[in-house]
Amino acid sequence: STSPMNITNATVPEDTVSLKKLQEYYNNVSVPWTQNSTALDVMRMELDRGLTTWVHLIVTQDNISPGSDLRFTAWPGRAAITEKIHALLPKKSPYSQKRIPRCSVIGNSGILKDSGCGAEIDKAEYVFRCNAAPIQRYSRDAGEKTNLTTINKSVLHDRYMALKSLEHQFQFHNDMIEYNGLLWVPAYANRPYLDDCYNARRTFKSENSEIVFGHPHHFTQVSKYWAAQGVHGILTTGFYLVSAALNLCEETHVFGFWPFLETPDGETIKFHYYDDVGFTSRTKRIHEIPLEFQLLYEHHRRGILRMHIGKCK
Ligand code: CTP
Repeated sequence: STSPMNITNATVPEDTVSLKKLQEYYNNVSVPWTQNSTALDVMRMELDRGLTTWVHLIVTQDNISPGSDLRFTAWPGRAAITEKIHALLPKKSPYSQKRIPRCSVIGNSGILKDSGCGAEIDKAEYVFRCNAAPIQRYSRDAGEKTNLTTINKSVLHDRYMALKSLEHQFQFHNDMIEYNGLLWVPAYANRPYLDDCYNARRTFKSENSEIVFGHPHHFTQVSKYWAAQGVHGILTTGFYLVSAALNLCEETHVFGFWPFLETPDGETIKFHYYDDVGFTSRTKRIHEIPLEFQLLYEHHRRGILRMHIGKCK
């Protein structure tokens, strides 16, 4: 059956996956793919259930009213949306009922390195990227188009000290030049970082991009959907973006989702395409990244999204 509801019993993959299994993944995503629009529509309805249609990835003046509040996703309590905060938000959601024809969502796996997938990635009208991954130096493999790029806490707060000094603002500004569009920060994840996120939006001025805040209701809703499918850890940013893209885009292509340290040919790779970190214990502890991979793979096979593994022709 093609129903996305049948994945509840997805087997949880082991931590280390045999080369045979990696080859099987590769071979199965390399055969011609066609979209199953019926299955995709069912999935879209389920993913957004209970949300007003215009609540998607970001908080905007037209999807929240002054005087209301937002529940944090990873912290008790709520954030008050005062008049002042409301005025700070972007006016309108950039998304509409009309879907973007094609999107690429880029995970940061080392499998992208030397993939030559840049052109294929940039075929999309809209490209989602995670955690301010560098692109200009890797455009042949990771493309250069950017429309929404997430910036997680460790980048904004640790690398740029939440833009608290002019020097950090300057450095941030310089580094962000390679991204266009939205710089998405999970402002409503943890209370202690909220004011820094507001401050970052206030201070960051650029022609190409602006800092925007992730919509906590959307994240919570998408997390609930996946919890019912067995993903109980905090969703990784990449997996969350794929879920969002399914509703915003007609066709969702995913690249760089490969939480293994080996290619299907048995070559050793890094966890990221752009640095030398390993599979961090933090990632292991809070996320269920192999299970997410398994789900993405199964959704590829059901015609819901198109996964790309390995080199692009
Ligand atoms: N990813 C993947 N395989 C890898 C590395 C990353 O599938 N080998 C995906 C994950 O979905 C991840 C995303 O690519 O969320 C971005 O990677 P990274 O920046 O490493 O994410 P994390 O540091 O784990 O951050 P987060 O907690 O925000 O997900």
